[in-house]
This record gives sequence, structure tokens and C-alpha cells, in this order.
Amino acid sequence: MTAIVETRDLTRRYGKTLALNHLNLSIPQGAIYGFIGPNGAGKTTTMRILTTLLAPSDGEARVAGHSVQRERAAVRRAVGFMPDFFGVYDRMTAQEYLEFFAAAYDVPVKRRAGLIGDLLALVELSHKRDADVMGLSRGMKQRLSLARTLLHDPVLLILDEPASGLDPRARVELRELLKELRVMGKTIMISSHILTELAEMCTHIGIIERGNLLASGDVATIMREMQPHRVFEVRLLDETEAGMADVLAAAAELVRGNPHVIDVRALPEDDPPHLQIDFDGDDRAANELLASLLAGGVRVTHFAGQASNLEEIFLRVTGDSAYGGAS
Ligand SMILES: Nc1ncnc2c1ncn2[C@@H]1O[C@H](COP(=O)(O)OP(=O)(O)OP(=O)(O)O)[C@@H](O)[C@H]1O
Ligand SMILES: [Mg+2]
Repeated sequence: MTAIVETRDLTRRYGKTLALNHLNLSIPQGAIYGFIGPNGAGKTTTMRILTTLLAPSDGEARVAGHSVQRERAAVRRAVGFMPDFFGVYDRMTAQEYLEFFAAAYDVPVKRRAGLIGDLLALVELSHKRDADVMGLSRGMKQRLSLARTLLHDPVLLILDEPASGLDPRARVELRELLKELRVMGKTIMISSHILTELAEMCTHIGIIERGNLLASGDVATIMREMQPHRVFEVRLLDETEAGMADVLAAAAELVRGNPHVIDVRALPEDDPPHLQIDFDGDDRAANELLASLLAGGVRVTHFAGQASNLEEIFLRVTGDSAYGGAS
């Protein structure tokens, strides 16, 4: 897959503050990339550099193959940016707001009316065409702002905290809209300090803290890499003659010697009764664990690694202290 965003040792200082520390980021074409980190992590700084609004102190960044320093005009054509604030617009309707930006983006006059109508429909604001923008709800402002980023048909959308302050329903709507944009072929980079806001809608995530990229990649890989251990649940054939408690205890003894087994718990009283195995091996080692159970005569009916969720991983990676208040 071609990378739409690629940074190499991207570094930004504000005086003595190191806001970005040798960031190496890659966002493949077609991804919905969740850029997650606590307040002050460097998300906005990164996004401003990628949209040419801020110069890096060191390192390089390319957007759709263009250097953010040497090919600024090309980068700006490729990117639609939604900042984390809406701005103030005095007595302007939704329609006028989009007309204003369409002119700024040099959208040909003949195409403007049709395009604006289409975009208002896409973000479900057609009925608010003539409403004063300052009177729109927060969710509506976010959607109007998103429509604005689409005016020049960019390949990449960079959205800084678009879900912040939205109610759960508006968040679902935003998620649906982003999926639709992805189907339309857009690559989307979206930031948040709340992982759960993004978890279900992203194909890729990057976790940043104090200017350092702690993890980056597709969601499944991140989850696999960041997990210090997995928990396997093992269920056994219900053999009445032996008694489930004894069978589970025997199976627990059998796996206890495995070097990747951190802990085993036999839970005969649970429904269904099962073994819980804390395991720090890879998939090959998991396969060997299962083989050893079968070779030992244990009649396994169910063997499944429980996925730990993204939120847990995020907390673990950034440390509990980093995950604090809302901005
Ligand atoms: N204009 C500036 N002048 C000085 N320091 C700045 C400036 N902008 C950002 N910083 C510092 O750079 C670091 C990263 O800030 P940035 O705004 O990129 O974080 P963020 O991840 O977007 O945080 P938030 O979740 O609060 O929006 C912080 O330490 C911040 O104080
Ligand atoms: Mg920010």
C-alpha cells in the first residue's frame, strides 16, 4: 500500500519544549488513522506540520508524495484540514460559509452551487442552508466544518479532535460519515485523546505521548504487539465420571510447566467451567500449548485467546497518569 503520509525523524521544538521527538509515521492510502494521545502529546503540532501551517524544526514529512517544506502548494491541494476550533463568523449562513471557502480554494464559480449543495447533503445540513452558522449546534458546526475540508476534493483529511464535545448520537453520525468518506476513497487522519471515541472507526492507530510515537500500525497488529500477555480460555469435554474439578486441575498442572505460562486458574464453578491461562508467547507458542494439552490426553473443546481491548492497551502504553482530563 502506498503511504499518503510519511514522516522521517520529524521534530518540532517550541523554545526548550520538545513537542515532537523524531516522529516516524506512516499512514497508508485508504486508512482511517486514529492519532491518539493525552493533552500536550503533540497531535495538533503534527497535524499543523502536515498541513504546512507550521514548519518542522528537523526531519521530513511528505503528504501524497510532496514535501511539506518544499512543495507546500501541492500538499495543500492534497489535504483538507479541520482544526480543533470552529472560529467566529459574523452573520454568515451555512451556504455563505461554504461559498466563502470555495472561493478561497479557487473552486470554479460555475461548479460552486452544485458542489455546495452536494456537500450540505452529504453532511445532512441541507435544511440548515440558510441558518446562521453561529447558531448551529456543536455537532452541526463540526459537520459543516467537515464539508468545508472537502471543497477542493483532497485525498487526505486531517481532522483535529472532531468528536470532542459531541453527544453519543452525534458521534455515531460522525463515524458513519467518516466511513462514507473512506468509501469515497479518502484517507483520514483523526485525533483524539479519548481512545474509545476512535477505537471502532479506525483501521490504524498511532499512540503519541510527550512527542514520542509509542506505537503505530493497523489495529490488530498494535493490539498484538502491545499486549504483554494474553489470556486463553480453555474448556474441556464434560466427563461426568471424572468430575470437572479434577479434570481442570489435572489440565492446569499439565500446562504449568510451560515457559510461556505465567499463571493458570482452574474455575470449575464458573459457567461454563474453564481454565484461564495467562500466556506471554506468540501464536506458534500458543499452538504448542494446545498441542501439549491434547498430547497429555486433555479433551479440549474450546481454546480461545481473549482480546484485550484498545483502551487497556492505551492505558498501559501511556501510563495511567497520562490519561487524564478532557481538554
Ligand atoms: N505555540 C506554542 N508555543 C509553545 N509551546 C507550544 C505551542 N504549541 C504547542 N506547544 C507545546 O507543544 C506540546 C504539544 O502540543 P500540542 O498542541 O501539539 O498537543 P496536543 O496533543 O494537540 O494536545 P491537546 O490534546 O491538548 O490538543 C505541548 O507541550 C505544548 O505546550
Ligand atoms: Mg491538540
